[in-house]
Amino acid sequence: MIYYSYFLLIAFLAYDIYLIYSLFPSQKGQYPPFVPAPYKARKTIIKQLLPLLKGSQKSLRIVDPGCGIGSLLIPLARAYPQHKFIGIEWDKLLYKICLFRSRNLQNITYFNQDMLTYDYHDTDIIVCFLVPKIIPDLQKRILETGKKDTLIFSIDCSFPQLTEIACFDSHLFWQSFKIHQYKL
Ligand SMILES: C[S@@+](CC[C@H](N)C(=O)[O-])C[C@H]1O[C@@H](n2cnc3c(N)ncnc32)[C@H](O)[C@@H]1O
Repeated sequence: MIYYSYFLLIAFLAYDIYLIYSLFPSQKGQYPPFVPAPYKARKTIIKQLLPLLKGSQKSLRIVDPGCGIGSLLIPLARAYPQHKFIGIEWDKLLYKICLFRSRNLQNITYFNQDMLTYDYHDTDIIVCFLVPKIIPDLQKRILETGKKDTLIFSIDCSFPQLTEIACFDSHLFWQSFKIHQYKL
């Protein structure tokens, strides 16, 4: 029990140090630091995506801008080898963790780059968990480079210039998350 408590304490300290370090590349919170998508919100998005991924004859390209450690993409890539999954992560350490976690998956690719320089022209579905401050810039980039009919699933952040086609609620204890769905 005592070892378990030490482990938890060290894990919390390491994460706090990481959050402080991430304030520099995130330009004091303008860009989201690494916070994994809440388990329940991930489950809700995965559930919403299942009929689309299961039902599609064509191989789809699913992109997670700011993929963190790949928690949204990896379960989907495992379940749907016929589709292509792309994670964009500018933090080198998180990018390397993604590569390691996906070492046995052929249908997942990561780009260690800024999501605002990525070209979304052949993206069918975007899934994201970000902060409101980055949304205007990402929205602009998606509108400039994206294609018609691309679907966007966003945990908690809304894209004001896009027309929302659905909104789902996801609850975990006292926390509630909205998942907004848009179509370009
Ligand atoms: C809130 S986390 C989301 C993690 C992941 N999508 C998930 O659901 O578990 C946001 C991630 O975006 C990354 N990020 C922030 N700004 C970025 C940018 N401009 N380009 C690429 N990645 C960025 C951060 O390093 C962080 O890992």
